[in-house]
Amino acid sequence: MSSRIFRDDLLAGKVAVVTGGGTGIGAATARELARVGATVVIASRKKDHVDPAAAGLTEQVGRTVYGDLCDIRDRDSVNGFVGRVVEQHGRIDILINNGGGQFFSPADMISPRGWDAVINTNLTGTWNVTRAVHDAWMGAHGGKVVSITMLTQRGFPGMAHSVASRAGVEAMTRTLAVEWANKGIVLNAIAPGYIASNGIRNYPPGLGLVEKMQSCVPLKRMGTMDEVAWMITHLASPAGDYITGQTITIDGGKDLWGDYWIIPDPEDLKPFELPVEPWEHFEK
Ligand SMILES: NC(=O)c1ccc[n+]([C@@H]2O[C@H](COP(=O)([O-])OP(=O)(O)OC[C@H]3O[C@@H](n4cnc5c(N)ncnc54)[C@H](OP(=O)(O)O)[C@@H]3O)[C@@H](O)[C@H]2O)c1
Repeated sequence: MSSRIFRDDLLAGKVAVVTGGGTGIGAATARELARVGATVVIASRKKDHVDPAAAGLTEQVGRTVYGDLCDIRDRDSVNGFVGRVVEQHGRIDILINNGGGQFFSPADMISPRGWDAVINTNLTGTWNVTRAVHDAWMGAHGGKVVSITMLTQRGFPGMAHSVASRAGVEAMTRTLAVEWANKGIVLNAIAPGYIASNGIRNYPPGLGLVEKMQSCVPLKRMGTMDEVAWMITHLASPAGDYITGQTITIDGGKDLWGDYWIIPDPEDLKPFELPVEPWEHFEK
């Protein structure tokens, strides 16, 4: 089936890598990129994520979507994977840094191990793949990098580890957009709000979190995985050639408005006094 938005040969001849492409937003992105003509390689840690997705996407799109294993935290694994892609497909024009993860937790309950795991995956892992693709192909030939982050402009209660790592990726993106501009590499980040994807299944059940999340979005719904995939495809296409170093928010207006995190009022909300200057006179 063709893309609902883009023409069939938009990315013909391009090779795209999607980390975490076996599930959720990554799989939707792999499908969209393949539908518009790119040769797509998906990769993550688990064979039982990658293999069925590669086979399923191949069937849906009608041409081969390739799958490989890669742990983005492990530099040897990343270098091996990137080397295999260049050897097999000859180039990497598009890198989608989608692989990542976190767990919902109040900050004072995050263990040192939990903190390190999230930073190593989301921040260092994204750097590992970006740098490996730069070294293996893009540094000499240019290319496009899109990294998935999250809403980082305000606090993100329950996600201190992840929001710190994602803000790091956004800062890295702005920096590399300048340092690597003369190599023909453009890099951007996409910050999704609440997207109806597999990741949502990891939220603790029974707290009504998903409903609360939905109700604090001005558009009163979750985003779809396709809505993220379409923006990624736009950036990966020639329409994105003059956009670099940006973070594009896809959140139905959530970041402009509410939050699900409840801060209880103290029993005695402090009364306030308005100071009156000696020269001011207010009618009582
Ligand atoms: N859904 C949302 O509302 C939302 C909002 C903001 C940001 N995001 C981010 O968007 C991305 C996709 O999320 P999703 O909702 O589609 O969730 P998801 O299905 O859980 O996707 C995460 C993917 O990352 C891969 N991954 C995790 N650790 C990895 C590692 N060390 N090396 C390689 N791959 C790894 C996983 O595959 P393996 O387990 O096989 O490694 C999985 O395919 C994630 O980075 C997520 O945090 C999602």
